[in-house]
Amino acid sequence: MDSIRIVGGAELNGRIPIAGAKNACLTLMPATILTDEPLTLTNAPRLSDIRTMTTLLQSLGAEVAGLQGGQVLAMSSHDLTSVHADYDIVRKMRASILVLGPLLARFGRAEVSLPGGCAIGARPVDLHLKALEAMGAEIDLAEGYVKARAPAGGLKGAVIDFPLVSVGATENALMAATLAKGTTVLNNAAREPEIVDLAHCLRRMGAQIEGEGTATITIQGVERLGGATHPVVVDRIELGTYMLAPAITGGTVECLGGRMELVGAFAEKLDAAGVSVEQTKDGLKVSRKNGRVSAVDVTTEPFPGFPTDLQAQMMALLCTAEGRSTLHETIFENRFMHAPELTRMGARIEVHGGSAVVTGVERLKGAPVMATDLRASVSLILAALAAEGETVVSRVYHLDRGYERVEEKLGACGATIERIREA
Ligand code: UD1
Repeated sequence: MDSIRIVGGAELNGRIPIAGAKNACLTLMPATILTDEPLTLTNAPRLSDIRTMTTLLQSLGAEVAGLQGGQVLAMSSHDLTSVHADYDIVRKMRASILVLGPLLARFGRAEVSLPGGCAIGARPVDLHLKALEAMGAEIDLAEGYVKARAPAGGLKGAVIDFPLVSVGATENALMAATLAKGTTVLNNAAREPEIVDLAHCLRRMGAQIEGEGTATITIQGVERLGGATHPVVVDRIELGTYMLAPAITGGTVECLGGRMELVGAFAEKLDAAGVSVEQTKDGLKVSRKNGRVSAVDVTTEPFPGFPTDLQAQMMALLCTAEGRSTLHETIFENRFMHAPELTRMGARIEVHGGSAVVTGVERLKGAPVMATDLRASVSLILAALAAEGETVVSRVYHLDRGYERVEEKLGACGATIERIREA
């Protein structure tokens, strides 16, 4: 397993290109199942999660070709041969469940293994299933699989009231509804930019959708969808992560492709902590205003609130802030696994259930640490950039699921960072 070695202490200065959004790409790819015409995604990120989704779609008989080094994904579900998403692939990535809605909508049948993914909480899929049941699907859970069947005439439009906001359940229901008979209304829908991006792509394919980006999305089912070419939206989580780099080390970094509306609540917290964020014509320019950032309190919420996917990275920054910060995690129940690792680097953190109290220290110290999940791993890298001495982050396969070329991007801004490859 590879590890990453960092020698901390250097200011970061430069420009970092931000890739297309992993989480958008992971829902745009299954949208290929909805049509027998080609769907091409541009600005795709080159990540192991994308390769897993590629393998999953290929196992169903879809053609998926990565062009231009993987930045363009040319897909076709013209000759799909299977509606069975196997455990061996699905267990690697929770987003695999996103093939369920499209398979059911186009073929009337689907068998999808119950998913695995990051160990950050129970993460059930009941809301996905309830939404599809409301559209007339019959669903059985047997042998670890979701076995779903649409009624004889196909899925039917329905009013779906989500009891809590779920990104994945909204995506599955949205995709399924595009080919259902009649009108579907999704109430308490997720408003994330990745949902908006999916709706834009589906509209290019001929879907009739209104209200994406609000809590109510209305879909008028159509007979069939066609092909399209669609650019994947910028990754707001990668963006936020790299915005934190100069905040924690000092210096100025311009995150290319960054847009304020993707990271509004997060940028407000940075501002309150003493980090300036400025929209330029090419992206977002970030620098620390004074010597040390100030403590701030953070509560994770569905979009447009502070994203849970930036909580671990924000904690790394607050470890060196002046004063005491509290982070409340409201989305996932087990998402402070980075705290004990940050503590190994000299951070002062107390976790009580869903809250963590961080008392800032002047300087973190390098240490051997272990990545426990995707966002936790990058929080350790951020902490290491600011720490005195050497840090080795092991188990970075988690990192490779969501960040492309981390060493290159940070190295180009002056960080001492290298990957240690293991045979
Ligand atoms: C997506 C993102 C993930 C992000 C999360 C929240 C992708 C591929 N992943 O995950 O990076 O952290 O949104 O912003 O886009 N829940 C249920 N039942 C369900 C579904 C969800 O109880 O059927 C709960 C979850 O356990 C969690 C909450 O709802 O507590 C939100 O989860 P959800 O928005 O569904 O997250 P994902 O779509 O899995």
